[in-house]
Amino acid sequence: MSKSLILGVSLLLCTSCSTPSVDKEMDAYIDALMGKMTLREKLGQMNLPTGGDLETGTIKNSGMSEAIRKQEVGGILNVKGVEKIYQLQRIAVEETKLGIPLIVGADVVHGYETIFPIPLAMSCTWDTMLVQKAARIAATEASADGVSWTYSPMVDICKDARWGRIAEGGGEDPYLGSLISAAYIKGYQGEAMKNNDEIMACVKHFAFYGASEAGRDYNICDMSRNRMYNDYMMPYKAAVDAGVGSIMSSFNTVDGIPATANKWLLTDLLRGEWGFDGFVVTDYNSIGEMRSHGYADIKEASVKALLAGTDMDMVTHGFLNQMEEAVNNGLVDEKDVDKACRRILEAKYNLGLFDNPYKYCDSIRAKTEIFTAENRKAAREIAAQTFVLLKNENEILPLDGKKRIALIGPMADQQNNMCGTWSMGCPTDKHVTVLQGLKTALGDKATIRYAKGSNIYFDEQTEKDATGVRPIKRGDNKALLKEAMTVAQASDVIVAAVGECSEMSGESASRTQIQIPDAQRALLEQLVSLGKPVVVVLFTGRPLDLTWETTNVDAILNVWFAGSEAGDAIADVLLGKVNPSGRLTTTFPRSVGQVPIYYNSMRTGRPDDVDKHFNRFVSNYIDERTSSLYPFGYGLSYTKFEYGNMSISTEEMPMTGKLEVSVPVTNTGNLDGYETVQLYIHDLYADVVRPIKELKGFKKVFIKKGQTENVTFKITADDLKYYNSELKYVADPGEFDVMVGPNSADLQVKKFILK
Ligand code: BGC
Repeated sequence: MSKSLILGVSLLLCTSCSTPSVDKEMDAYIDALMGKMTLREKLGQMNLPTGGDLETGTIKNSGMSEAIRKQEVGGILNVKGVEKIYQLQRIAVEETKLGIPLIVGADVVHGYETIFPIPLAMSCTWDTMLVQKAARIAATEASADGVSWTYSPMVDICKDARWGRIAEGGGEDPYLGSLISAAYIKGYQGEAMKNNDEIMACVKHFAFYGASEAGRDYNICDMSRNRMYNDYMMPYKAAVDAGVGSIMSSFNTVDGIPATANKWLLTDLLRGEWGFDGFVVTDYNSIGEMRSHGYADIKEASVKALLAGTDMDMVTHGFLNQMEEAVNNGLVDEKDVDKACRRILEAKYNLGLFDNPYKYCDSIRAKTEIFTAENRKAAREIAAQTFVLLKNENEILPLDGKKRIALIGPMADQQNNMCGTWSMGCPTDKHVTVLQGLKTALGDKATIRYAKGSNIYFDEQTEKDATGVRPIKRGDNKALLKEAMTVAQASDVIVAAVGECSEMSGESASRTQIQIPDAQRALLEQLVSLGKPVVVVLFTGRPLDLTWETTNVDAILNVWFAGSEAGDAIADVLLGKVNPSGRLTTTFPRSVGQVPIYYNSMRTGRPDDVDKHFNRFVSNYIDERTSSLYPFGYGLSYTKFEYGNMSISTEEMPMTGKLEVSVPVTNTGNLDGYETVQLYIHDLYADVVRPIKELKGFKKVFIKKGQTENVTFKITADDLKYYNSELKYVADPGEFDVMVGPNSADLQVKKFILK
């Protein structure tokens, strides 16, 4: 039913107002609509069942059509296909009293059918325009297939490689994470969701889910306000500032209260301090799970969630089934239900669904706009920019000119393992593997021979758990190795495609051992023993402990999970068509015992400034160095960049003034390439202890071989602000270090004073 049909008389009233604002029109429209709704119908709007095409918990909902007919459904999630969605929308609009359209949600996390690299990889481009472009394409494809709402971006800052969901976020840094967060929102929502290829974003998981204790998924998290405000909050806030339409509360506790029932979080902070005016949806069964949390049974949990500021209940049916009684018993005022229902109706209004409920149900678009050659080309180009070259001894890469290549490893030719987490909805039979990519690119210029080489793990059950719904056919490990050694012996260079398989990161994929799985490590050891150059093409959704590989192989190209076009993109980089330019946004530890490890740590009273050997009574380890294996911001190129001396415009900067920092960077190698010049600051003494360095700016510059680029940055007092002990956002006068360089561990320093 269209807006005017639902609204009838009240639309006339509204249009007669003198120059009504959009909000006034919306308010009048929703007032009129809600005036006709019963309490149960309002609760129906606040109910979000799953269609079951993908489930991420034990709860399953059934009888969708009937529930919609009974007006018990406000939105649906994870129903795939425009035809199915159209049928459900038609019931909502044409077979109910109110005809309110559904909002249709899905986890379009890094692409819809054209899959882009996992978000952690995307962040390694340090290029917000690329992130925005990928999100734009994802929104175009998803909207062409009926989706109006995506559960993305996930912006949880994470410093713990054990947590599988580190793959879904933008790394460990709040500054970069915020820029990326805003870029996703712009990409998905476009021009305020006006057009039919623009969808509503849902930033998640609010809040602090990335700090799940011990890196174990669904675990609690506990942290100080200082840390919340200074380290974790910014990317969520950036999404709010960018106009995100919705926000998903997280599974974890915040101050001992499940986030979904935390009023301070969802109302005082989110709406009060930040002015968020969209709606809050729970995560999958978060209301129901409050019972297992030991917090509240479903009745009480539903009430607490609503009163805390939750508007929509994902799959529990707590609002729908518990709230009438709660209102009747006076535990909840109907006005609180009204608030939540209104926010959901506003979202539908803003999406334009009342004007055209079938805005996203265009079957022609579904046939012509998904997985197009153009989208795939963009995905291939973007994928190549996410790869991080970790090591390249003797410039073994690129492989151009090598005549006999052995491609070995269980990740080398696995179509169902190229995309990583949150890509289950897409058909994998068109995904390009490394073997296919290399074969296409090489033609008859070189021979390429392939052998699987090993299983993922020696142990069958561990492998089953690791591969989950994307099993990889197992072979006899000894036979696989034998075949691989024969192939390797007849080659000039060995390319080993190894690492994690898709399901080893993402939701419910925590690990305590973060090395390359045992069978693959054993394979690498054998390959290395041949004395031929070994290049590791590393598949992973998290930082791994690569200490052994760093010592023993010649080159490591970290390709993460690069999406549907991964194989071609990997070939582009291995063969030198594209010069790698990714820079880490997450610290790679030397061993799992260092975790959580991150570049912007606080200085302790007994810092380990030596980092070479053990020193008693300083903050270090007996059996491990303190520094990381590969620091935040790190990444190599096929060319070389040399930094000249940095200079600053002044050593004394007034509060209202500015400081200019500049550094000449020369491409001294033989290829053109991108360098990401990074700027960090350190507030030496403050009201609360500040990190030893904090990223405050970066420039990704393309420098032709032999050329020098003078890279400049401007710092103002705004860049020096932090939340003090009273949680006020201030810049303190005093001493600062300003640093520039190619990564967080290789920096030149100058001092200045903020007056
Ligand atoms: C995840 C969310 C996701 C939701 C819906 C949950 O288990 O934590 O990130 O959006 O499922 O699929």
